[in-house]
Amino acid sequence: MTSTQGTLEELRALTEAGVSLTSEISLEKVLQKVVDIGRDLVGARYAALSVLGPSGEITRFITSGISAEERLAIGDIPSGRGLLGVLLHKGDSLSLETISDDPRSAGFPPNHPPMTSLLGVPLIFRTHIIGNLYLTEKTGERAFSDHDQELVRLLATQAAVAIRNAELHDKAESVARLEERERIGMDLHDGVMQSIYAVGLTLEDCVERVDDDPAGVRGSLEGAMNSLNDVIGDIRSYIFDLRPRVSVVADLPEAVRHLVDDLRINTLIQTSLEIDGELPDAITQDQALALFHITQEAINNVAKHSQARSASVRLEASDRLVSIEVHDDGIGFDTEGEQAHERHGLRNMRDRARSVGAELHLTGRTNEGTTVRAELSIGDSPEVP
Ligand SMILES: Nc1ncnc2c1ncn2[C@@H]1O[C@H](COP(=O)(O)OP(=O)(O)OP(=O)(O)O)[C@@H](O)[C@H]1O
Ligand SMILES: [Mg+2]
Repeated sequence: MTSTQGTLEELRALTEAGVSLTSEISLEKVLQKVVDIGRDLVGARYAALSVLGPSGEITRFITSGISAEERLAIGDIPSGRGLLGVLLHKGDSLSLETISDDPRSAGFPPNHPPMTSLLGVPLIFRTHIIGNLYLTEKTGERAFSDHDQELVRLLATQAAVAIRNAELHDKAESVARLEERERIGMDLHDGVMQSIYAVGLTLEDCVERVDDDPAGVRGSLEGAMNSLNDVIGDIRSYIFDLRPRVSVVADLPEAVRHLVDDLRINTLIQTSLEIDGELPDAITQDQALALFHITQEAINNVAKHSQARSASVRLEASDRLVSIEVHDDGIGFDTEGEQAHERHGLRNMRDRARSVGAELHLTGRTNEGTTVRAELSIGDSPEVP
């Protein structure tokens, strides 16, 4: 191979490494990829990556070329004494022909495979050393070359960015999870808990009255049983709301069709469904899911509150706009002043619409039915609350 070919090969390998690292968002996988790629890139028998905590301590140690059994036999992650500590504190590269000849070497722990040549490079993000990449046992050579060192340095630059990205992604995920937990807690507290509390009060009252008014108590108990059944129904639909059908995102029209079918089967309301146009490719999963949830809540409200004789659902889609409208001819309500009696349903609809950049219109008046319309312009960036 000519040297130009060699350089091209390496450039290709580095570019592939960059693409592969940045397309991965799981931190575990990014770390493992970094060591595996580093080992391949310079032909080392073993590779390891130390990730550093805020005070420079090693928090993770990922290896490549060592079997799981060998890793187990070696034991704990290194403490950073000896050569690993040198790289760790100085943030310098290190290339050695024979590890044990270096006066700073602290020797290997028992069961450690023999290692002679070493190349160590720090992973630097902005000005911080976030870890170190070690390559050992250059195959077919006594030591790693300056060229190897340069290649690994380039890889380390890409790796540091990929690691930071994956860490940020992990953090964002756990924040989202916490927020979700808070939301569920709040919903359960405000909804289900209040209903159960009310049933508890009725039962307490029954205990007081049972001797004097057994017939009245019977009526109250029946009422309590009905309320509990309602609560069970609420919890069931809440769980359903938390776990949308998997097909929703892939096929919004089909999912809406299911909702309308459920309304027809479970109520006496005459229903109609109209679907116009094809869903644009550009609609995101989050947008489709939000439209689904809005439709679901609007349909639930029709079933729960409207006392309508008929209801119609219309899904219109084009490359520029997707809209869903749920209309009923029931008792309606004061949508202008609805803020006052707005509960989770309407509030969630608004939140979901806003989070994906859709507009929500509620129209209707008392005794004149209700229309809920969600409009999503495709290609617009969502308005962040
Ligand atoms: N289609 C409708 N017809 C008549 N009234 C409606 C309709 N949709 C909503 N409402 C009225 O608006 C109120 C608020 O609706 P919202 O969905 O926020 O709460 P909810 O359905 O009572 O409870 P949840 O938080 O479980 O959804 C309802 O209690 C009801 O009085
Ligand atoms: Mg509701």
